[in-house]
Amino acid sequence: MSGAVVRLDRVALDVGAQKVLRGISLAIPRGGFRWLLGPSGAGKTSLLRLLHLELRPSEGRLELLGRDVGAAPRAALPQLRRRIGMVFQDFRLLPHLSAFDNVALPLRLAGRPEGQIQADVGEMLAWVGLRGRIHCHPAELSGGEQQRVAIARAVINRPDLLLADEPTGNLDDTQAQRLMLLLGELSRLGTTIVVATHNDTIVARHPAPAVRLAEGRLVNADA
Ligand SMILES: Nc1ncnc2c1ncn2[C@@H]1O[C@H](COP(=O)(O)OP(=O)(O)O)[C@@H](O)[C@H]1O
Ligand SMILES: [Mg+2]
Repeated sequence: MSGAVVRLDRVALDVGAQKVLRGISLAIPRGGFRWLLGPSGAGKTSLLRLLHLELRPSEGRLELLGRDVGAAPRAALPQLRRRIGMVFQDFRLLPHLSAFDNVALPLRLAGRPEGQIQADVGEMLAWVGLRGRIHCHPAELSGGEQQRVAIARAVINRPDLLLADEPTGNLDDTQAQRLMLLLGELSRLGTTIVVATHNDTIVARHPAPAVRLAEGRLVNADA
């Protein structure tokens, strides 16, 4: 075992005929924070999907949370995935569930007692400024509100690895700053975090090592 929460060794990803990622090697330690940067089409979302176990590398070795993903039996992946939180760019909230129930879902799947769920989810939704909106369904929420529900859902289970795809895309400046406070706190508690973004302002305000992609290749890592 390498000790890194995320380790890629010469990873490549093909989607159909397209070479989406090429020669990606990087390692991120426990509690590490990385910006994931690069122009549109560079491969940021694809890299996050690899780290979220939605895709498997076409070549190379991917190790997550100490496990060699390529060597792990398929049956072992759901358990690994439960330790990974993802904020999707398009939110992917369940439309028939309220904001509260969307955020509660990971805790319910983990079999947490309902009393604890009520307290934790209420507190988290209040923290992201949605105390008055907990009973709303996604269709009744603005883009920014849906994004904050998606963030709350991704972090409610204290994942070991948190992935976020353009998580400030629909947030105003104050909300984006609040998200960064939350991520900083999680990172200090030991969560490893990767955030893909185009938000230059927030990157400038929160200097951290960056993984930079261009045309599916690493420009530099751990800068
Ligand atoms: N499912 C897919 N089918 C076809 N092409 C894809 C698919 N996913 C990604 N790609 C291609 O891979 C490249 C990288 O895309 P993506 O990872 O979304 O980049 P980014 O998030 O940096 O904008 C793009 O050229 C995109 O068209
Ligand atoms: Mg993308």
